[in-house]
Amino acid sequence: MKTSLLILLVICCSCVCQRRPSKQSPLDTTAQTHNTESSCGGRPLDLIFVIDSSRSVRPDDFERVKSFIRDVLLFLDVARDQTRVGLVQFGSVVQNEFFLNSYFEKQQMERAVRSMEHLASGTMTGLALQFTREQAFSLARGARPAHMQVPRIAVVVTDGRPQDSVEEEAARARQDGIEIFAVGVGRVDMATLRAIGSEPHAEHVHLVANFSQIETLVSVFHSKLCAGQSVHFTL
Ligand SMILES: *[C@@H]1O[C@H](CO)[C@@H](O)[C@H](O)[C@H]1NC(C)=O
Repeated sequence: MKTSLLILLVICCSCVCQRRPSKQSPLDTTAQTHNTESSCGGRPLDLIFVIDSSRSVRPDDFERVKSFIRDVLLFLDVARDQTRVGLVQFGSVVQNEFFLNSYFEKQQMERAVRSMEHLASGTMTGLALQFTREQAFSLARGARPAHMQVPRIAVVVTDGRPQDSVEEEAARARQDGIEIFAVGVGRVDMATLRAIGSEPHAEHVHLVANFSQIETLVSVFHSKLCAGQSVHFTL
C-alpha cells in the first residue's frame, strides 16, 4: 500500500515538474520570436494611426485609406505583448476608434477599421495630435511604460490644410518621444507635413499624388516599421 502511494507521488511530481515551464531567459524569448510566424521581425511597437476624415476626403478615398490601414495591419506582429495598435480619426472633432488596449487581435482591429465612418467635417489636425499624445499614448489607454522602450509611433495621414495650429502640438508629441510619420495626399501643404513629421524628414515625410497611390506606401512602411528590414537604425 505504502509503496504504491509513494510511486504515485513520484509520478505525479514528475508530471508537474515537467509541465512547469522553464524560466524564460532572454535567449528563450528570442528563440520563441523566431519560431512564431513573424512578418515584422518580432519588434514590438505602440502604433497609432491618425486619420484625416475631413470633407475634402471623398468617400472612395476614405475607403482607400481604410484599406491602407488594413494592409499595414496584415504585416504587423499584433499581440498584447507585441505590437499594439490604435486608431484615431479627426475632422472638426477628434474621434477615437480604438485604443492601444482595446484589441489585441488583428481580426478585431480589421473589423473596427472596416466599420469606421467618414466624419466629413473640418480639419483639426492640431487637436488630433494633442489627443494622440495626451490620451491615445497614455498608459491607461495601453501604451507601454517608457522603461520597456517600446517605440511609440504615430502615422498621420492628411490631405489638407489644418484649421488649427499644428506645429506646437506636433513638437510636443515628438518631445514626448513619439516618432511621427506624416503621409500627405494630393495638394497638401509641404510645410504642414514637415511641421508634423519627425526628423529626418526624408525618412518620415511622404507625399503621394492621390489616394490611389497611398497603397504604394504599404511596402515602404513594412521596411520602416519592421525589425531587420530598416536601414534607419544603422544610419
Ligand atoms: C494618381 O496619381 C498617379 C501618379 O501621379 C496617376 O498615374 C493616376 O492617374 C492618378 N489617379 C487618379 C485617380 O487621379
